[in-house]
Amino acid sequence: MKDEEKFQKIISLAKRRGFVWPSSEIYGGLSGFYDFGPLGVLLKENIKNEWKKVVVFQKEEIVLIDSSIILNPKVWQASGHQEEFIDLLSECPKCKRRFKTDDLEENLCPYCKVELLPPKKFNPMFKTFVGSSEKTAIETFLRPETAQGIFINFKNVIESFPKKLPFGIAQIGKAFRNEISPGNFLFRIREFEQMELEYFVKPEEAEKYHQFWIEERFKWYQNLGISKNHLKLYQVPKKDLAHYSKATTEIHYLFPFSGKFEEIEGIANRGDYDLKTHSQFSGIDLTYFDPFSQKRFFPYVIEPSLGIERVFLALLCEFYWEDKERERVVLKFPPKLAPIKVAVFPLLSNKPQLVSLAKEIYQNLKKEFICAFDDSGNIGKRYYRQDEIGTPFCITVDFQSLEDETVTLRDRDSTSQIRIHKKEIIEFLKEKLK
Ligand code: GAP
Repeated sequence: MKDEEKFQKIISLAKRRGFVWPSSEIYGGLSGFYDFGPLGVLLKENIKNEWKKVVVFQKEEIVLIDSSIILNPKVWQASGHQEEFIDLLSECPKCKRRFKTDDLEENLCPYCKVELLPPKKFNPMFKTFVGSSEKTAIETFLRPETAQGIFINFKNVIESFPKKLPFGIAQIGKAFRNEISPGNFLFRIREFEQMELEYFVKPEEAEKYHQFWIEERFKWYQNLGISKNHLKLYQVPKKDLAHYSKATTEIHYLFPFSGKFEEIEGIANRGDYDLKTHSQFSGIDLTYFDPFSQKRFFPYVIEPSLGIERVFLALLCEFYWEDKERERVVLKFPPKLAPIKVAVFPLLSNKPQLVSLAKEIYQNLKKEFICAFDDSGNIGKRYYRQDEIGTPFCITVDFQSLEDETVTLRDRDSTSQIRIHKKEIIEFLKEKLK
């Protein structure tokens, strides 16, 4: 199967089964915006939990915050975003289409094949206004990264949670960029969710911790079940570094839409750029007092930063599997990522005793796991539906269940089944879902 064909099938499955829908679809959509359906929300939640577990909760020295999306406009002056967060835009003189200059392989419009106009600067921050009176309203922006909400709370965090270097502040939240050319489904969108960690270190230890986080983050993707062959590290050349970065290494995934390795995460050494400029602009001292050396200084910061939707898309691509032998499509998610962990069926929907026992089992399992109940269509169709959304286990209540309280438990990937007593299901699944 061609990569492009596979990609289109993934998009179609995501829509049909309620993972992702184009936003505002009944009004013709809005380019670069998507809505997440019931299964999409669950998958996103699992990605966030895996990140929080490894990056925050398993580390003693890292805390999580949640800052507001709209910040004082001075934040964006200080951070350099107002001046330096710039994309170059090339316009076609004929069709007026606009392209991100960096994406173009040649300076010709891909549609009209005419020379594009000289590139113009474009700031992708979304403007907004705060206040009810047009005259006095403050003009500011929807945040283009969550990171600044962390830097401006640096003092609050160290005052309420005194920490010795190195320590980290993490945040998950929405970010907005008015991308010139959104596209490739969830890859480049205008509203997305970031998971960012700002890890503060002594300047002389910055390189060591930069390496540490590159390795940590690379491992994380493999622990999600992504093949090492589909992942690559890419060191950003100096000329392409963001205005705040001293060095950045990106983690790339081999996406089917381009057949190329594309960025899913960046791990930057931001130096002391942000704390220094916020100190200058706000007049508030954001240095750190080191109790050992008795000196004050600006810590350096190492920043692993990723967009959840890019990981979401990588996971759909990685685990989409057409099982030709059994004529089915499977999302082969590792159980910890699967939106629904187990589905329960009565063998026949018109046998009240089977339905009632299946419902009882389902109600019990619901207290422990996200699960589904399905008594529509035949059993084959029900398995097919669960395979397609990646449910790792299916339980069927049949006539033998009425006699000995055992059920069949089917494994998604092998389709093999075992019989298990209804009282043993929870323990069995807990072990498998770890
Ligand atoms: N605070 C640093 C920062 O924002 P970035 O490289 O601009 O750095 C970090 O963004 C991550 O956010 C990217 O690696 C990507 O996963 C995600 N991201 C950025 N722009 C995106 C977009 N338009 N659509 C989806 N994800 C995006």
